[in-house]
Amino acid sequence: MRIAFLGLGRMGSAMARHLLDAGHDLTVWNRTSGKAGELVEAGATEASTVGEAVGNAEIVVLMLFGPDSVRDVLKEVGEAAGKGTLVLDSTTIGRDAAEEFGKLADGLGLRYVDAPVVGTTAPARNGTLGVLVGATDEDFATVKPLLETWGDPEKIRHVGPVASGNALKTVVNLTLGVAMGGVAEALRLGRDLHIDSDVLLATLGQGPLGFSVNQKKDMLASGDFQPTAFSLDLLLKDLTIALDVASDDLPLTKATAAYADAAIAAGHGDDDYTALAGYFAFEGSADSY
Ligand SMILES: NC(=O)c1ccc[n+]([C@@H]2O[C@H](COP(=O)([O-])OP(=O)(O)OC[C@H]3O[C@@H](n4cnc5c(N)ncnc54)[C@H](OP(=O)(O)O)[C@@H]3O)[C@@H](O)[C@H]2O)c1
Repeated sequence: MRIAFLGLGRMGSAMARHLLDAGHDLTVWNRTSGKAGELVEAGATEASTVGEAVGNAEIVVLMLFGPDSVRDVLKEVGEAAGKGTLVLDSTTIGRDAAEEFGKLADGLGLRYVDAPVVGTTAPARNGTLGVLVGATDEDFATVKPLLETWGDPEKIRHVGPVASGNALKTVVNLTLGVAMGGVAEALRLGRDLHIDSDVLLATLGQGPLGFSVNQKKDMLASGDFQPTAFSLDLLLKDLTIALDVASDDLPLTKATAAYADAAIAAGHGDDDYTALAGYFAFEGSADSY
């Protein structure tokens, strides 16, 4: 298929590579130039504008930062893409934005599927991501072969109509954030009680926060939150989406967002989201939150 892939960040560049490996005709675009080198070497064409990228595409994949970036780019896609082109939006944007973009795409004569991914840069490179899809049955059938290039077939879920993929993804990322908030408070209390940090991390790794602790043990031990897989800026975006969409108060999520906010204000926005725990445990004072 002729595919345009827009957004070559940490996830997008890894996902786009699978489309090339599967033999598709791929054109790529990124807002900031200089990110397409490896993909071009592997056979992709780099476009310098959105219009140039999508003019001839049957499918346009978006892997951008969040709702605002999708809104900007989708309007440009609508000006240049042929009627009936399918937009496969893998950006994490939340239910309300996905509903908005489904209607916007409809008005522009485009088809729209939301398909946010679960998992991070290593599964993106290995083609084992989870994918949560909001689409009509017909559009799901069209995009499934593409999703299978970066997703594990057993973890690709057609959740329901457009926006339902993002509704579920918001819930999933709430758990990621709140769990790291739990790690933050556990490390802080452990430090206050003078527990050896290696013993503390090893013991927490065997408990209910084991997934978060074990995945990020080196960062939590060293206090060095690079290289980033999932940035703290992205986590705060997702926690804010959860707080905005919820009709009930979510006090744990609110507190976690406050930790993230404080760590970002201290310069950790582009660090791995593990910096939320590290900052709270080792740097922040109670007044920061
Ligand atoms: N990283 C993860 O582990 C992970 C896991 C699951 C889901 N996600 C979700 O996947 C999406 C991408 O994540 P990522 O880690 O790849 O993010 P990233 O590395 O920060 O990349 C973000 C991409 O969005 C582009 N962008 C930002 N604002 C833009 C705008 N206004 N107009 C056009 N392009 C814009 C950036 O372009 P520039 O290069 O010009 O800045 C870059 O290509 C996010 O929605 C994230 O929440 C991430």
